[in-house]
Amino acid sequence: MNNKVQDLFEARFQRMPDVICHAPGRVNIIGDHTDYNDGFVLPAAINFGTDIAARKREDNEVKVVAYDINEELVIFSLNNNEFDAQHSWSNYVRGVLKMLLVEFPKINGAELMVTGNVPQGAGLSSSASFEIAIIKVFSELYELPIDGVKAALIGQAAENNFVGCSCGIMDQLISAMGKENHAMLLDCRSLTFKDAPLPTGMAVLIVNSNVKRGLVDSEYNLRHEQCESVAKHFKRKALRDVSFTELEEQKIALDSTLYHRARHVITENNRTQEALKCLLNSDVARLSILMAESHQSLKDDFEVTTPEMDFLADILNEKLGSEGGARMTGGGFGGCVVAIVPEQRADELIKDVTKAYQDEYKLSASFYSCTLTSGAFRKQF
Ligand code: GLA
Repeated sequence: MNNKVQDLFEARFQRMPDVICHAPGRVNIIGDHTDYNDGFVLPAAINFGTDIAARKREDNEVKVVAYDINEELVIFSLNNNEFDAQHSWSNYVRGVLKMLLVEFPKINGAELMVTGNVPQGAGLSSSASFEIAIIKVFSELYELPIDGVKAALIGQAAENNFVGCSCGIMDQLISAMGKENHAMLLDCRSLTFKDAPLPTGMAVLIVNSNVKRGLVDSEYNLRHEQCESVAKHFKRKALRDVSFTELEEQKIALDSTLYHRARHVITENNRTQEALKCLLNSDVARLSILMAESHQSLKDDFEVTTPEMDFLADILNEKLGSEGGARMTGGGFGGCVVAIVPEQRADELIKDVTKAYQDEYKLSASFYSCTLTSGAFRKQF
């Protein structure tokens, strides 16, 4: 079977690749800003992702082409691998390789052709899918013993220690370990998970507001620090270990912003665990309430939504009633809303939301009807 990324690789490097790997983006159904608090998330891998064709090298050089970024070529050596402010995309490759090299000092370089279709900056984890695809490629090229959890930890370390975003583990873990037709409840402390099938007749519809806000990383890192400082106040390892009653008892003692940040995380953890039960029992009416509450909490307590995302979530929730649910998904500060909708209502919703969003903001939303896919894999070619 021939492949776009294979053709691109051959055209650029004038030979066949050794391997082709794919890693998916993700949508999070519920449980945002809980992962770095050792909490619970409920993501699914989606049919949008990153493809990489690669060939081993005998030396330490890495030559990587980002096809979608004007076919930019970046060349560096594994022993001289520093942050690259000019080609910021390359830091995902550089960061991953820096972390890989710590554990596997014997790997050599590679030629890599990268192309993907996860919308960037939309909250669908284009960067985690890139990181996990790179890790998969190197583990296949050099036969490294890296399972899904380990791949996720390496990807997260690259992001935390090299790229400079203090993200949690959710995106990398689901990109590495997703399961076809399922979402998964992940416990971000034990790194164990439970399968969550979609109720029969329901589909995942993602709506991109096509609005991105600046300062996403610094705002994100600030939220992380705020959560940590509340955990510290309670002398606990993470907000996962603080109950709602304990938080309420300390309401007066806490700074008001910090109280609200913590309230989001604690209530979101409860909603996320309950959402698994709803999916298992096909209780769409209750799931609908949990998703709407989650959005509200991310808006009012955690303050990571935008007016455009609020508008999209509200209109979807209003139209769906108890037949489905909608909320922002991912880190926030712009990007996408996820909706669980009856399959046969998707077209009608797309039509109505397109018009309403256009009328309100003079903007066009993008819609992705998603299938839930497996995590990263090597492609046959
Ligand atoms: C980003 C981060 C994740 C997670 C989400 C919010 O996607 O990469 O680790 O914190 O935001 O849930």
